[in-house]
Amino acid sequence: MKRALILLGLLGAGLSGALAGEAWTAGQLATLKSMQLNQLAPARSDPSNRYEDTAAAAQLGKRLFFDARLSANGKVSCASCHDPQRQFQDGRALSQGVGSGTRRAMPLVESGRGAWLFWDGRKDSLWAQALGPLEDAAEHGGNRLAYARLVGQYYQRDYEALFAPLPSMQALPANAAPGGTAAERSAWQALSEAQRDALSRVFANIGKAIAAYEKTLHHEPGRLDAYLDATLRNSGAADAVLTAPEQRGLRLFIGKGECISCHAGPLQTDHAFHNTGVAPRVAGRPDLGRAQAVAKVLDDEFNCLGPYSDALPGACQELEFISRADPLMVGAFKTPSLRQVGLRPPYMHAGQLATLTDVVRHYAAAPAALAGRSERQPLRLSEQEVHDLVSFLGVL
Ligand code: HEC
Ligand code: HEC
Repeated sequence: MKRALILLGLLGAGLSGALAGEAWTAGQLATLKSMQLNQLAPARSDPSNRYEDTAAAAQLGKRLFFDARLSANGKVSCASCHDPQRQFQDGRALSQGVGSGTRRAMPLVESGRGAWLFWDGRKDSLWAQALGPLEDAAEHGGNRLAYARLVGQYYQRDYEALFAPLPSMQALPANAAPGGTAAERSAWQALSEAQRDALSRVFANIGKAIAAYEKTLHHEPGRLDAYLDATLRNSGAADAVLTAPEQRGLRLFIGKGECISCHAGPLQTDHAFHNTGVAPRVAGRPDLGRAQAVAKVLDDEFNCLGPYSDALPGACQELEFISRADPLMVGAFKTPSLRQVGLRPPYMHAGQLATLTDVVRHYAAAPAALAGRSERQPLRLSEQEVHDLVSFLGVL
């Protein structure tokens, strides 16, 4: 009975959509519903971070996120490349920190939703991810011991209230880390195992606090949601929300363009990795993407199975069942969410494409990949269809 009513409701809703030509079918309406922000499932919980939902951790994490003292030159914070005014990214093709990187910064809203972080998924949690840039010479360029000292100097009370007393660092050198410069590495080797462990634990906790902050970042419903709501309720207001080209673009997005097969759900991402044939930034130097990341995440001392994880045995399913040698992963990158994509050019993992028109033309042509095999086939889109799809992407 209930199901019949829902079906009737869907059929009724299908009568609208006049601007874009035909009515939506029941199947299309189900797809449209799946794209609404209010369909977003509760966030997955991270078994490796027991502080992820602690308000005090999020507050501490927020301060750390914006603190440029956490860098080699005192000028770089997470916010340098993840600007809250720009959807927590930087609008550059390649990010600029202490040095310069080889990929584009990613927006952070809802970024803990997938199992893997970074374009290639070489980290398996938000907190483990946050530790990467802190010790990366091209990003914050700092080191573990200096960060622990900084926490002692500026955040001791809040840190100790949340986690545990900081280790004594009086007799230790200023800088030390297992990666880093030769001097930092030998200073690290000179520490006892217990000292190294205590410092790595402080470092991990910095990440856990930042992750708790990142988990508080959410999207507001936008024009797409207003349109979908009006369409699904058949309120008659839908045509006032999206223009005819935008509505036609939506049809292409969920139909002929097959965009929805990867850009699915309320965030328009399947959180998975795909090779879409995007050419490398530097010809002749292909980025192998996911294929090179699996070994890194398995090897990471801060992964879900590592000594600094809070996960109970059996809780790290994603890592335990990771696919190790999948040829499809050569040249594959994480499907980005398309929410608000129109506001953050340039596009793709290294900002290779300048505009949304370039992106749609890329999918229409579907060039062969230079590394691995592209999953895409040419689309044969007319100029009008290219224009419509671009208009729709602007709505997101
Ligand atoms: C120098 C610029 C820079 C700084 C500083 C920086 N990031 Fe990033 N961030 C990037 C780039 C570039 C990527 C993508 C890199 C890649 O995939 O290899 C990224 C990716 C991420 C991601 C992955 C998002 C996703 O959807 O997978 C998160 C989360 C993140 N950064 C958080 C942080 C945090 C937290 C800090 C501070 C501790 C930070 N970043 C500092 C440039 C930066
Ligand atoms: C096979 C899965 C797949 C399909 C199908 C697909 N995409 Fe993508 N999309 C991706 C992946 C993966 C990336 C990132 C690729 C990279 O950086 O190399 C991406 C990137 C994008 C970006 C850039 C976003 C950003 O932040 O840089 C846009 C815009 C986009 N796709 C739109 C579309 C449209 C429009 C369609 C349909 C014509 C489509 N996609 C079809 C997987 C897919």
